[in-house]
Amino acid sequence: MKYNIRTKLSIFFVLVAVVSFSLISVLTNIFVDRHFREYVMRNQEQKHRGIINSITQQYMGDGMWNMDIIDTVGVSSLESGLIIKVRDESGNLLWDATSHNEGMCQRIIEQMYNNMNTRYPNIEGGYIEKPYPIFYHSRRVGTVEIGSYGPFYLNDHDMEFINTLNMVILVVGIVCLLFALLLGQIVSRRLSTPITRVIDTAQLISKGYYSDRVEEKSNTIEICQLTDTINNLAETLENHELLSKRLTSDVAHELRTPLATLQSHMEAMIDGIWEPDLKRLKSCHEEIIRLSKMVGDLEKLAKYESEMIVLNKVSFDVTDLVRRIVYNFEPEFKDKGVGITQSGEKEEIMADRDKISQVIINVISNALKYTPKGGKVSVYVKRMENIIKISIKDNGLGIPERDLPFIFERFYRADKSRNRLTGGSGIGLTIAKTIVESHKGYIDVQSKEGEGSEFTICLPRSQ
Ligand SMILES: Nc1ncnc2c1ncn2[C@@H]1O[C@H](COP(=O)(O)OP(=O)(O)OP(=O)(O)O)[C@@H](O)[C@H]1O
Ligand SMILES: [Mg+2]
Repeated sequence: MKYNIRTKLSIFFVLVAVVSFSLISVLTNIFVDRHFREYVMRNQEQKHRGIINSITQQYMGDGMWNMDIIDTVGVSSLESGLIIKVRDESGNLLWDATSHNEGMCQRIIEQMYNNMNTRYPNIEGGYIEKPYPIFYHSRRVGTVEIGSYGPFYLNDHDMEFINTLNMVILVVGIVCLLFALLLGQIVSRRLSTPITRVIDTAQLISKGYYSDRVEEKSNTIEICQLTDTINNLAETLENHELLSKRLTSDVAHELRTPLATLQSHMEAMIDGIWEPDLKRLKSCHEEIIRLSKMVGDLEKLAKYESEMIVLNKVSFDVTDLVRRIVYNFEPEFKDKGVGITQSGEKEEIMADRDKISQVIINVISNALKYTPKGGKVSVYVKRMENIIKISIKDNGLGIPERDLPFIFERFYRADKSRNRLTGGSGIGLTIAKTIVESHKGYIDVQSKEGEGSEFTICLPRSQ
């Protein structure tokens, strides 16, 4: 069986109210039963003592009694619900409530039965007459018999007290129940409204409407986390979509020119307009190589740019990594006649070694590509507080100011004609930037056309 939050919470709140109410009423009744019974018994015993005292005082010696006062005491006792009989030394009746007012006695007894039967139907009781001896100078001179319901009884005041108490508990119970219902509604609405909104958004997202966001504010931490997660998910998907759209259009754009060139060259050769000589075939071959390099680069870029970029972080010495890369590059630099130097102390860093290595390779290979013969490239590693700075500086061609803001964008080449010769596809720096940023670092460039460029890679030492 499935319920929504509103029903569930309402049932829960009502259940709590009902259980608390039942518990309170049961406990109160147990408590009242125990203590109230003791109190009533003590009270009755005290009353009996009072009557006996009053009667005892009416003995005047020599078997003489003050009958007037006895009569008054008897009547007032009867009015307060006690049926008394006074006997003398030899057991003869001096005063009897039943003969004084039989009807009233009957009524009193009936009332006692009624009260006790409604309140304590399980208690076996009945009308009993308890005899108390009267002493005068330590000599027994008579007896008072006090009749009441035994073992104890509740008079109308006592009953009223208990009924009022139960009434109060009942009213409190009903109020609590209504309050629980109301509270359940309010709390569940507060919880369910943002959740419903999240569900709606998630459904829209699953249908491809990635621009939708949950705007609902909540002061529940878990709900805030949920909405944040859904919003982040939507943003990630939106970026993904944008990325793949851009990639497709960029790829199409980039491939069109070389393919068109190839096509026209081939057609010219097939139609016999051009001789398929070595030079033309070589040029076609070069174009094909360039195309396949671009496809390879694209694959790499797609891999790095995908949000799923997984960093396999390890601790390693960056300077040592730079030294190895420079060492591997040395033959190429020598061939071209460009000098390369490297410096820096040992610097430990937590990062993905292979990917950082890719970044350094991309930047150094650019420096080599865009520095003419006789130029110089220097690489150094430096620590600045919590950042490791890797700098690659050349005195090559430099980058025109108008191109500087775009060189990290994919397929961007500062000088298309110049790059046609060098064969770059404009992806190297894009990959470098993606990797550095996924490490929460940044890559920067300073360059002047004709003077040279300096690329700075900054990486946090630990994350
Ligand atoms: N050290 C440098 N000196 C001068 N220009 C540079 C330098 N580094 C990069 N550039 C410019 O920035 C552009 C983008 O560089 P990027 O590495 O992204 O592409 P690429 O080198 O052309 O191709 P590839 O994808 O093969 O690396 C280059 O085409 C070049 O014009
Ligand atoms: Mg490059």
